[in-house]
Amino acid sequence: MPGAETFRVSAVAYDRHIGRYGPPLASALIEFAGVEPGVRALDVGCGPGALTAALAERLEAANVCGAEPSEPFAEACRARLPGVEVVAAAAESLPFADDAFDAALSQLVVNFMRDADGGVGEMARVTRPGGVVASCVWDYAGEMTLLRAFWDAAREVDPEGGAAADEGAVMRWCGDGELAELWRSAGLREVRFGPLVARASYAGFEDLWAPLLAGVGPAGAFCRSLDDDRRAALNETFRRRLGVGDAPFELTARAWAVAGVVP
Ligand SMILES: C[S@@+](CC[C@H](N)C(=O)[O-])C[C@H]1O[C@@H](n2cnc3c(N)ncnc32)[C@H](O)[C@@H]1O
Repeated sequence: MPGAETFRVSAVAYDRHIGRYGPPLASALIEFAGVEPGVRALDVGCGPGALTAALAERLEAANVCGAEPSEPFAEACRARLPGVEVVAAAAESLPFADDAFDAALSQLVVNFMRDADGGVGEMARVTRPGGVVASCVWDYAGEMTLLRAFWDAAREVDPEGGAAADEGAVMRWCGDGELAELWRSAGLREVRFGPLVARASYAGFEDLWAPLLAGVGPAGAFCRSLDDDRRAALNETFRRRLGVGDAPFELTARAWAVAGVVP
């Protein structure tokens, strides 16, 4: 999936962009998946570790592993979470034995996999029969407020380039029910699907805008690809569409979640 390479950036920039939603989304995904203390879990595409940290808090670090193909993110996750094993690996080729975990989770990753069938198949392979495989993906075309407003603004200032890069149009697995189809086709049982909502706080619009200039994620990469005039127009249009200014504000973001049981 185009876009995966935009995560080879600093973990700090990521934390200030999508990472703000990570901790509340992770808590919601863990509840949705029904992961309880006493089990061993894998976080696939763990990034700098928002879901990994929440799993480690619930299960203890020694019972949690992370897999992440971006070296700066894997390194940040290791540094932040001593005791958690973090391997440099993509979902499509997980370096773990069959049935090694009771649960395999991934947060905001399936849409970036080169081969989502292969990646979800691997998550199921490393999870024991009766264990859970669960994920979530932003509702890019709908109620992920930050990214929806960003791409609507991008389409306004650069109709052709914005439409070609709009994650709501180009991402797979982000529509209502799509992840459930993927889970069923991977052979998972008792598949459940539903919305999760996370919130993030900003000190003002510039606090939201600054991390995009670091090129993080597809939105950041798009921002960096513009010349100065268009980038200034995007800044203004984005601010107007969000209806925010220099005062603190909060945004909500909806993700679609899926969970299934390994047969
Ligand atoms: C939006 S970030 C999510 C990171 C983290 N899970 C979180 O919730 O903050 C997407 C992550 O997917 C990773 N990724 C991209 N392609 C991947 C693949 N094929 N397998 C596993 N992870 C992948 C990226 O490197 C990045 O860390």
